[in-house]
Amino acid sequence: MAQEPINLFEYEEIAKSRLEQGQYDFIAGGATDEITIRRTRAVFDSIMMRPRMMVDISKRDVSTTVLGQKIDLPVMIDPAGNHGVAHEDAELATARAAGAAGTLMVVSSHAARTMEDVAGAATGPLWFQQYLFRDRGLTLEMAARAEEAGYTALCLTLDAKVSPKRERNIRNNYVGPASPNYAQLDMGTHSWQFAADMPAGPNDIRDPASTWEDLDWLAANIRLPVVVKGIMTGEDGKYSADHGAKGVIVSNHGGRYLDTTLATIEVLPEVVKAVDGNAEVYMDGGIRRGTDIFKALALGARSVLIGRPLFWGLAVDGEAGVVSMLGILKSELDATMGMCGRTTIDSIDMDCLATVSPLLALFPTAPDFR
Ligand SMILES: Cc1cc2nc3c(=O)[nH]c(=O)nc-3n(C[C@H](O)[C@H](O)[C@H](O)COP(=O)(O)O)c2cc1C
Repeated sequence: MAQEPINLFEYEEIAKSRLEQGQYDFIAGGATDEITIRRTRAVFDSIMMRPRMMVDISKRDVSTTVLGQKIDLPVMIDPAGNHGVAHEDAELATARAAGAAGTLMVVSSHAARTMEDVAGAATGPLWFQQYLFRDRGLTLEMAARAEEAGYTALCLTLDAKVSPKRERNIRNNYVGPASPNYAQLDMGTHSWQFAADMPAGPNDIRDPASTWEDLDWLAANIRLPVVVKGIMTGEDGKYSADHGAKGVIVSNHGGRYLDTTLATIEVLPEVVKAVDGNAEVYMDGGIRRGTDIFKALALGARSVLIGRPLFWGLAVDGEAGVVSMLGILKSELDATMGMCGRTTIDSIDMDCLATVSPLLALFPTAPDFR
């Protein structure tokens, strides 16, 4: 495509043509039949908008705050391993792009660059993502490094205790590189066991025995606020807040772990209700349009995050690609707000959405457009 991409789907198309098949599949793919991935887009597309007229929309503000940090748009960069697969500058480019776009990046512990190098390149706020390790000393050591490097929250991923079965990776024999973040840790007999279809073995660094009490322990033993990632039920949303999380990311890991879950946008309302204002609630999964962001905000998310699109932006044009991709989302959200008569993020609400065709009530045999 000679012309500039004008939406996130075009970014993916161009990126696909530039990446090797195995690399593209690693990013785009999900677990087993990828039913959750398809459902996610289908559900977004089934939620309809209710536009509103004759509201003064001359001044619109798409900025918000997350844990007290102002961001210029309610879209953050999700933690995702190995940006180096899409661009040689890897997370350094993404971090600079996030800063230039005025948003926050969550840096994965599986990054292709060390957390210190990413922090050194960053021009905006950063959170660091990690896991609960069997060795609690290592867990605290990594968190302490993040704090030392200037990260302002720790994002604890809860939904990755077991290795998923990603069939594209198995077919392609795809194995990503180990992150330099782990090279600096003395892991003893532990390591990351990435076998694509295996439960974590006894030496796997991840702790399959961890429970909510371990979240209490972590929150009590680090200074950074903890944001948990991977919540898909109201129960777990409530437990997260009860056990010290300041933020909750409603996420199914982009359909990359357990397949056939509901789409995140479907479970978002129950999590928001159960958390009951005791933590901030964010959401990721399938966000590709300004209308998707609007829908998530209307259903109670404070901000959304994007995963795969950052790789598409990087593959197309490095840092500039990510900046322009975020710019597209921002302007699509801004236009959606204008057309729905909403001028601030806080004013976005469910009144702007519909899910069932009103024709159904009039004609029992009318087609169901859901
Ligand atoms: C290539 C890739 C690597 C990822 N690595 C991580 C990771 O290291 N830690 C984590 O918590 N989530 C990881 N994720 C999941 C994302 O944070 C996020 O939940 C998901 O991508 C959101 O869906 P989306 O890609 O449709 O935006 C990864 C996702 C992708 C696509």
